[in-house]
Amino acid sequence: MKVTVVGAGNVGATCADVIAQKELVNEVVLLDIKENFAEGKALDIWQTAPVNLYDTRVTGSTNDYSKTAKSDVVVITSGLPRKPGMSRDDLISTNAGIVKGVTENILKYSPDAIIIIVSNPLDVMTYCAYLTAKVDSRRVFGMAGILDTARYRAFLAEELNCSPKDIQAVLMGGHGDTMVPLPRYTTVSGIPVTELIKKERLDEIIDRTKKGGGEIVNLLGTSAWYAPGASAAQMVEAIVRDQKRIFPVCAWLQGEYGLKDIYLGVPVKLGKNGIEQIIELKLNDSETKLLNESAKAVKEVMNVLDTMNSASVIK
Ligand code: LAC
Repeated sequence: MKVTVVGAGNVGATCADVIAQKELVNEVVLLDIKENFAEGKALDIWQTAPVNLYDTRVTGSTNDYSKTAKSDVVVITSGLPRKPGMSRDDLISTNAGIVKGVTENILKYSPDAIIIIVSNPLDVMTYCAYLTAKVDSRRVFGMAGILDTARYRAFLAEELNCSPKDIQAVLMGGHGDTMVPLPRYTTVSGIPVTELIKKERLDEIIDRTKKGGGEIVNLLGTSAWYAPGASAAQMVEAIVRDQKRIFPVCAWLQGEYGLKDIYLGVPVKLGKNGIEQIIELKLNDSETKLLNESAKAVKEVMNVLDTMNSASVIK
C-alpha cells in the first residue's frame, strides 16, 4: 500500500517517519513545494531504515504529484502558521488556497484516496478539502481528536502516576479552545476518572488540555509536531490495517448530535473505507451545551470560508 504525506515540515516529516518505522505500508511519498525539501527529509528518514530495521520505502518530491499516483491514503499537513499582523481571515484564505490546490492535485493522481487533513484551522480546512474533493465525506476527514485526547490522557497519566496506556478518553468538538473533553467518558482501566481525581483538579486538567497546543507554541515559539504527526499516523494505521478503531475524528455531520452540514470532532469507527460509522453518545444537557457552543464557533469560521468562496477569494 502507498501513503502520501503532503507538506514536509515538522508535522508531515514526523508522520512519514512514524508510518515508516511502524511499516504500515510499502511506500511513503513526502511532497512539498519548497525545492528539494521533501527529497532531503525523505532521504534522511529512509537512512534510518537500516538502523531501525524497516522496509517501508520513503521518497520525496518537489511538487511532482505524479509521484503520488495511486496512493491509498493521503495526509495533508500543508499551510502557513499565523504570523503577527495577520487576521484570522488572512490565514483562512491563505491556507484554504493551499489545501484546495493540494486536494485537486492529489485527486488527479489518486482518485480513490482517503484524505486526512491536518492543516489549521483544522475543522475549516477539512471542510475546504471536502468542498474541493466532491467525494463521499467518509473519505475526507480531519485529525485533531486523537491529538487532543492524547494530551488529555498524558496529563491524566502524569496526575495519577500511571501508564498512559490505561487511560481511555473521548473528546469532542472543534480543534480549539472550545473543544469538549468528556470526563464522564474517561476511564483508567475501566475505572471512571471521576472516582480517582477530584472535580476541581479534573477541571484544571481539562482546561490545560484545551490550551494544549498553545502551551507548546509558548514553549517552542512554533506549534507542536511529534504528537500531531504520530496522531495522524495512527489514523493511517487504522485505515490501512482495517482496524475498525474508535477515535475522535473531525467528521462531516448530517444530523448526528442534532448538527448538520458541519465538520466537527466526534467519535467514529475508522477502517479501510475511512469513516465507517459515526458513534452517537448520549450526552447530558451540560455536555450538549458545550458541544453546541463549539459547533457554533466552528460554523462561524466555516461561514467565513463560504463567503470567501462565493466572492472567489480562494483561488
Ligand atoms: C496543535 C496544532 C498542531 O494542536 O494544531 O498542536
